[in-house]
Amino acid sequence: MRFASTILAATTLVLLNANSAHAYGVLGHTLTGQIAQLFLTPKTASQISTILPASYEGLLSNAAPWPDKIRFLDQYKWATPMHFVNPPNDNPPEQCLFEYVYGGQDNVNAIFNMTATLKQFQLTPPTNVGDEKKREDALKFFVHFMGDIHQPLHDSTPFRGGNDAPIKFGKSKSNLHSLWDTLLLTKDVKERFGDNPQAYLDDTIKLTKTIWKSEAASWTSCGPADSQPANPWSSVTKQVKTVCPIQWATVTNALDCTYVWKDYSASRDYSTDYFQKVTGPSTDFLYQKLLAQSGIRMAAALNEIFDPASTLSASEGTVVKRSELPPRYKRAVEEALAR
Ligand SMILES: *[C@@H]1O[C@H](CO)[C@@H](O)[C@H](O)[C@H]1NC(C)=O
Repeated sequence: MRFASTILAATTLVLLNANSAHAYGVLGHTLTGQIAQLFLTPKTASQISTILPASYEGLLSNAAPWPDKIRFLDQYKWATPMHFVNPPNDNPPEQCLFEYVYGGQDNVNAIFNMTATLKQFQLTPPTNVGDEKKREDALKFFVHFMGDIHQPLHDSTPFRGGNDAPIKFGKSKSNLHSLWDTLLLTKDVKERFGDNPQAYLDDTIKLTKTIWKSEAASWTSCGPADSQPANPWSSVTKQVKTVCPIQWATVTNALDCTYVWKDYSASRDYSTDYFQKVTGPSTDFLYQKLLAQSGIRMAAALNEIFDPASTLSASEGTVVKRSELPPRYKRAVEEALAR
């Protein structure tokens, strides 16, 4: 994997800081892209590599962090609120409620929007450079927003999704949102997987084929929540049946009451029993499971859009390609771990 530009490396490091307030970190997004890649049909994978710029080498993991890099550019300001969704009346840990309000610019709307855009261009391919760029951006946004929606604090309202909820993490001070974006993940990669994100990825894939196997078969099935006639995107959910962000956000939001905000205290050290619980066997490796759900659902939707004839069930997944973590992400991860 070639990604040796120092400019890129520097961008990645800056990004890790920018990220901590707003989004799944670079590592979380990279992993969801890598998980998805393993579940793409060959046809989907090849279409994707023609849509992405050549420098991405056809890898979703290289596309996944992009929306955080461009979020402060004027021409992409419209996408800023699409990284999260703030349901009204949501009040964890007492009450987790995901009553989705249609018509906003948010994470749920964003997933519908990007799905619709990709599907439209699949039916009517772009005929000019402007439309090609729109399709490329829609794919990169889609991959990223599929990660965000599986981070429980991206679907939660109070204290700006936990950004304003201070915590202690070992010797450092942080906040609940950053805990879920990066701290839990980097500590788990470091302690259980010897700082090796590839080993963490392999373990996550193994879990989808062992202890999560039976439930994983239902991760790509949508219930009725997203196909209500009142939903202005119901024409999209009819066309792409594996996409149901309202359902995903509802289930992910409920985790804010069961685990994320439970027994919150600013003086608690979140690097001990809390960390063990949400990354360990007593919660069925919850943190890893959310990454896996994101990747597997992303792959199912992309297969449905780009290879509609495929009968490959995403959760069964024939592994078509095993990609190394690009070196620049390894560097970014090492930096994060060293802090
Ligand atoms: C997606 O959102 C953008 C920004 O609001 C908008 O310009 C575009 O038309 C939307 N796409 C669809 C398919 O609705």
